[in-house]
Amino acid sequence: MSCNRVICPCQGIEIEDIKKAVDAGAETVDDVMEATGAGTICGACIDEIAEVLEEL
Ligand code: FES
Repeated sequence: MSCNRVICPCQGIEIEDIKKAVDAGAETVDDVMEATGAGTICGACIDEIAEVLEEL
């Protein structure tokens, strides 16, 4: 999986950004949403955020 794949086009959040949030202590989709802003506009990427979390 490429680290610069965009997960949330609304906010321009890439896998790398989600990894950084996890490194900083995010554990759940809600944590990642709060830390990065991903998923907070249209919500279409929320399932993908969950998938990325499972794969990390
Ligand atoms: S794609 Fe992530 S909030 Fe729209």
